[in-house]
Amino acid sequence: MAGYKEFHRRSIEDRDAFWREQARWVHWQKPCSTVLDYSRPPFAKWFVGGETNLCYNAIDRHLAARGDQKALVYISTELDEEKSFSYRELHSEVQRVAAMMQSLGVKQGDRVIIYMPMIPEACFAILACARIGAIHSVVFGGFAAASLAARIDDARPVLMVSADGGSRLGKVTLYKSLVDEAIKLAKHPPEKVLMYRRGLDAQMPVVSGRDVDWKELAATHAGASVACAWLESNEPSYILYTSGTTGHPKGVQRDVGGYAVALAASMQHIYCGKAGETMFTTSDIGWVVGHSYIIYGPLIAGMTTILYEGVPIRPDAGVWWKIVQDHKVNVMFSAPTAIRVLKKHDPAYLTKYDLSSLRHLFLAGEPLDEPTHVWISQALDKPVIDHYWQTETGWPILSAMPGVEQSRIKYGSPSFPVYGYDLRLLREAGAMDAADNEQAVVAIVPPLPPGCLSTVWGDDERFVQTYFSTFSNRQVYSTFDWGIRDPDGYYFILGRTDDVINVAGHRLGTREIEEAISMHSNIAECAVVGVADPLKGQMPLAFAVAKDTSRLGEPKGRSLLEKEVLETVDRQLGAIARPKAVHFVTLLPKTRSGKTLRRSIQALAEGRDPGDLTTIEDPAALQQIKDVLKESGA
Ligand code: PRX
Repeated sequence: MAGYKEFHRRSIEDRDAFWREQARWVHWQKPCSTVLDYSRPPFAKWFVGGETNLCYNAIDRHLAARGDQKALVYISTELDEEKSFSYRELHSEVQRVAAMMQSLGVKQGDRVIIYMPMIPEACFAILACARIGAIHSVVFGGFAAASLAARIDDARPVLMVSADGGSRLGKVTLYKSLVDEAIKLAKHPPEKVLMYRRGLDAQMPVVSGRDVDWKELAATHAGASVACAWLESNEPSYILYTSGTTGHPKGVQRDVGGYAVALAASMQHIYCGKAGETMFTTSDIGWVVGHSYIIYGPLIAGMTTILYEGVPIRPDAGVWWKIVQDHKVNVMFSAPTAIRVLKKHDPAYLTKYDLSSLRHLFLAGEPLDEPTHVWISQALDKPVIDHYWQTETGWPILSAMPGVEQSRIKYGSPSFPVYGYDLRLLREAGAMDAADNEQAVVAIVPPLPPGCLSTVWGDDERFVQTYFSTFSNRQVYSTFDWGIRDPDGYYFILGRTDDVINVAGHRLGTREIEEAISMHSNIAECAVVGVADPLKGQMPLAFAVAKDTSRLGEPKGRSLLEKEVLETVDRQLGAIARPKAVHFVTLLPKTRSGKTLRRSIQALAEGRDPGDLTTIEDPAALQQIKDVLKESGA
């Protein structure tokens, strides 16, 4: 590991020189005066004084050498459509959307909420924001109106961009009623809503004076030319909301220059994606993986990126491998859940297509269990790289780095700390370094490297309080994950230290789900825990106390209330947050100081020992949990 070790050591010990070199992967209109300003810990400012633009690096820079190369290939197995855009075409589409946004009053620093399905126009909108220095905030299309409203109120956008609908497994979800409802709920609604009609909603309601038809406006901006705004490296590029311990999602704020450098460098050293090659990332543009590795990363590297609307098993479980063959995909990035889904299908799908172009498959977003890692590695006969990171970091924290050194893959391990991260495993009490094979908190000694969150949008205090206050004696960044390192230096991630759960790679806060459930008028209180699920990794499971219990004596009454509660979650958060079941009890297990014993509930639900119960106020509460679980056959 000499090559990797030296590379990593330099990135920490000779930080400025290391990152000055990495900064050469991107175009700077004006070079920086200082590589890192760390005068106000834990806030790190990278490439201070430098001026660049993400859209310029993703598109314009490539025009001379690869204007006719495909930049974006859109494949929808939902609507049976396929379209591609060369770098030159992408350049004109993005300029046109930038001009449309400007005509709607969007200026540098303004926020634009993008609530869209996986269509090229969503990418145009994202890149158009980057071009003019507007701050995009993409909200995953699966989120419901109330979640969207909360994000609108935090970001206070001048514009919202949406479409008439999305499709999943052949089922269309119409967006417009959600958009209208969210705007009604919001205290700081956008003045304009730009709507792209895909022809999925013939009856789409239009609010006159507010709603603008994309295609009509686009017609008046054909051939528009909009220059890139040169932004100081530390200007915000985007906000992406993510779940934490509280019920209120945090706006992860990212910069411009540090992010561009981090992504460009990762394309070289981690993903090994070269200009002219093709990358296929199966995530959604609403998640961080979509931001970094469907849109910005591959385009900054001059690659062709694939935007896929659909699921891995429709029309059949070979669809992704057919895409790899047909588009000569070199780098692929997916999530463990998808692989577990594929594992249930005929393995012949993996040998049916020519996968010779594919070098690596990267997986992230949730723990990759060893059997799945073994299965997919053998089935593909290619290195399958488990790598670990977060919305907050924007790019990998732990990974094998084949562009630096070919290291041996250990099944179930995301390998080693990535360059730039001074990663530690710290004991929860006292923040001392843990020994090999000892479970501890995965922490990063600041400054965080380029590309990581610069703050929480509009709330510097929350940034410091949330991420840098886990240990009272030391200001280090907590990932809120447990980890362990073996004597060979390989790391393993063991799960979250907080109340965040991971459902099919989607990050959710159990508190958000509890708050959603509590919106039902007959719920007094509830507890939501994540329980292990063989396919999705984890599923939320709810235990609720009803105010009026008169109907709950009968199974029919219970299932009726359960149905209503699940519908409430769908309405508040979206179906992705829907618990596996809602069990009704008359009291929840709590400590004498009133804290709900979520870990004990979770242990029981997973058939484990509930642990130390000396502080429990009423042991009967735990018995009730056991009884309802037994009754439900769990
Ligand atoms: O708990 C870790 C888990 O997902 C969390 C971050 O989720 P999100 O913000 O959605 O970002 C995903 C970016 C890939 C982490 O705190 N996680 C992510 N990757 C892994 C993982 N857990 C285990 N192994 C991984 N490879």
